[in-house]
Amino acid sequence: MSDLFEHNNMIDEDPQSVGGNLLTDENAWLSVIQKMDEAYSDLVDYQVQMEEQNAKLEEAQNFFDSVQSAMSDVLIACDHEGKIQQVNRACEELTGCQSESLIGQFLVNLCPQESRDILLDCLRRVRRSPVRDQAITLNGINGAVPLALNCSPRFNPRGRLVGIVIAGRPLGELQKAFNELNAAHAELKLAQERLVQSEKMASLGRLVAGVAHELNNPISFVYGNMHALRRYTTRLVEYFNAVQSGASREQLQQLRNEMRLNKAIADLDSLVEGTLEGADRVREIVNDLKQFSSTQRSEKLPFDLVHVAQSALHWILKESPEVDVKKELPEHLCGEGHSGQIHQVVVNLIQNAVDAIKGQPNPILSIRAGKKDLDGKETLWLEIEDNGPGIADADLPHLFDPFFTTKPPGKGTGLGLSISYGIVAEHGGELSIKNRPLGGATALLLLPKCPSNEDG
Ligand SMILES: Nc1ncnc2c1ncn2[C@@H]1O[C@H](COP(=O)(O)OP(=O)(O)O)[C@@H](O)[C@H]1O
Ligand SMILES: [Mg+2]
Repeated sequence: MSDLFEHNNMIDEDPQSVGGNLLTDENAWLSVIQKMDEAYSDLVDYQVQMEEQNAKLEEAQNFFDSVQSAMSDVLIACDHEGKIQQVNRACEELTGCQSESLIGQFLVNLCPQESRDILLDCLRRVRRSPVRDQAITLNGINGAVPLALNCSPRFNPRGRLVGIVIAGRPLGELQKAFNELNAAHAELKLAQERLVQSEKMASLGRLVAGVAHELNNPISFVYGNMHALRRYTTRLVEYFNAVQSGASREQLQQLRNEMRLNKAIADLDSLVEGTLEGADRVREIVNDLKQFSSTQRSEKLPFDLVHVAQSALHWILKESPEVDVKKELPEHLCGEGHSGQIHQVVVNLIQNAVDAIKGQPNPILSIRAGKKDLDGKETLWLEIEDNGPGIADADLPHLFDPFFTTKPPGKGTGLGLSISYGIVAEHGGELSIKNRPLGGATALLLLPKCPSNEDG
């Protein structure tokens, strides 16, 4: 450029040294130089524009690359035959292959055999319309990886299909997390069921020692009676054989005296009576136990709350004879529901009271019951009171929380009151526990009176 101007200046320097023709030539030269100058300036402008556009293109490319790399979904661009043209970093990581080795391969080669037909079908369908959420597996570096696939067609400006864009979302992590959550939930449910059952078994276990003792009495009674009866039977058979073989009157009398048959015959009645009594007692005990262990039945039946309380008291106190029990109970109180469940509630309330007073110098448990009118409804109430240490203020709001216990491990599950609360609520009643002003705690159970029973 500067050369051209220098040349131009040189001509301007000495215009007189050339003729008129020279002047015309000079103008022509000048116009050529001017044109060249303009062309050069255009070239420079064009170069600047190109550089600007290149910078923008590079920026766009960088942006596109960074978006592609940041995607956790697998992105694959294929040509119209399904040959890979481009993959993103997520795809490289999933397959464990560099993009250079993937490009040019048929996409279908990345699938395990069982997914190939599905993929080929997707590639066929995508020519008509996009494919959404197709479950498929790709060969991953650590085994097959399930993906939810979306495929879209790619067209050139003339509207011809030139390729397919495939985005796959790995389902593995999500599915694994979901499965783990499901398994944890099932395990928790099972553990909860086991704990509920174990609370019941613990209460039942406490009773077993008492029951064994209680059963032992009538059974040994029955056993002794049966032994006596067997002895008497042998003697009677011997006597009847003598009668049949035609023994004389005197011989028979002598036999009778020797075998003390008169006493045996006189004993028979009371032996049978005693045996029946013993068997009855066994049946009662078994009935009590059946009632305690009865599972939920759908039908609600009338039951005697006083009988339930007496039976619960009887069994718990077998284990703790040192407790002084004060009872103020009417003869009957008729409620309606599942007596076995109410039995479980009362056993737990009494057991909690007994646990609280165990080891106290003068353990007293008071149990009272009755009925009263509450908001126009006839209501049964049962109160269990102890003179134990009572409940710490901080613990009061948590008594009915599942697993809340202040007892050492193995002694309490903390489920007794929470289960009891549920049972009582299901019966349309209420359960509350509070401290007594002079020490100890009181549990109050309220239940609706059985509607079909007038005097209970
Ligand atoms: N009569 C009571 N005196 C003192 N604390 C009590 C009494 N009844 C219940 N509690 C408290 O309530 C807690 C929860 O009772 P519960 O649900 O029956 O579970 P658990 O008996 O297995 O501990 C007990 O651990 C105890 O701290
Ligand atoms: Mg308890």
